[in-house]
Amino acid sequence: MANLAALELDRPETAPRPARLRVVLLGCGTVNTGVLDALALMPDRVEIAAVVTRRRRPGQTGRTAWLTDIRDAFDTGPDLVIDGLPDCPAAEKALDLAVERGIHIISANKAVIARRPDLEARARDKGIRFAYSAAVGGGVPVLETIQRLTASGETIQSVRGVLNGTSNFVLGLLEQGTGFDPAIAAAQAAGFAEADPSADIDGLDAAAKLALIARKAYGSAIDTQSIPADSLLSIEPGRVCGARENGLRYRQVAELSRAEDGRVDARVRLIALPEDHPLARVENEENSVEIVCESGLKIVLHGKGAGQDPTSGSVLADVRDLLSGGEA
Ligand SMILES: NC(=O)c1ccc[n+]([C@@H]2O[C@H](COP(=O)([O-])OP(=O)(O)OC[C@H]3O[C@@H](n4cnc5c(N)ncnc54)[C@H](OP(=O)(O)O)[C@@H]3O)[C@@H](O)[C@H]2O)c1
Repeated sequence: MANLAALELDRPETAPRPARLRVVLLGCGTVNTGVLDALALMPDRVEIAAVVTRRRRPGQTGRTAWLTDIRDAFDTGPDLVIDGLPDCPAAEKALDLAVERGIHIISANKAVIARRPDLEARARDKGIRFAYSAAVGGGVPVLETIQRLTASGETIQSVRGVLNGTSNFVLGLLEQGTGFDPAIAAAQAAGFAEADPSADIDGLDAAAKLALIARKAYGSAIDTQSIPADSLLSIEPGRVCGARENGLRYRQVAELSRAEDGRVDARVRLIALPEDHPLARVENEENSVEIVCESGLKIVLHGKGAGQDPTSGSVLADVRDLLSGGEA
């Protein structure tokens, strides 16, 4: 794995912070509906210039333009785009365009951010904000904690946790005897799983999160696809249920560690853990993460890893940070 000097994560940013932000929301699903509602309560600090969705939404009123074309939305002259799109080519193009035009970016879209480390590097070079607190941990401040630890001189030795709320929610239903498809449908109905849940189920979502953690912790770029990941589909639902009856709970565990020679290892495994293990006690859409530093310092974070309120709350924290001129 290469150390991306180009990321230069510690370099101070230079762009002046606008007193009032003109904002475009990309997507208005689970995450950005919550963001939109909260931003509507901050009219002195934020103006919503446009909201982009795939399907036209008739009947919207007010000063906000409801659009289906991302370029049209960028032409409204935003200072900030908030990306609540799924992993798709349109999202990648939109973030590219935002960087090109020098527009600040806040994104929940871990797949795109992980796949395109160049976007963050280019944003840094241009002195624009590229923040993505919601992309890992939902409402749990995983990246923020790692940033603070490294800023205080700590070196991260390992990170281990349950990072995907959807697969945890699904495993919880499987162990109660629910079938795989109804369990996925329940996760979608609760707003945890996307229309295409394969990235959650196959471990790619957790792998993308590990890639972002490695970037924050070490300035390293790991290709998400190169991270070995067990799929939930590789295990019979009956085995999950049977394990529970025997005092074990299957969990999708994401692990990152750094060897003495500086090599970073990452993997996503399905493991049957004793039910009193801290990661086995993570319920439903919760996330739990243990961060161990070389100094011996250990930090455990636990909370809601998916859903509208925790995720939009993290996006809003990034917005407030931008408004106040704080570090991302
Ligand atoms: N949900 C969570 O708990 C959670 C947590 C952390 C991170 N995230 C990340 O946040 C992002 C958004 O997740 P979500 O759950 O809010 O997704 P969602 O509910 O499926 O909403 C996606 C939104 O994007 C719009 N959209 C999709 N393709 C588009 C395109 N080509 N052009 C314009 N608009 C398009 C959709 O339009 P329509 O409304 O017309 O369909 C919809 O409004 C994802 O990247 C996800 O990984 C989600």
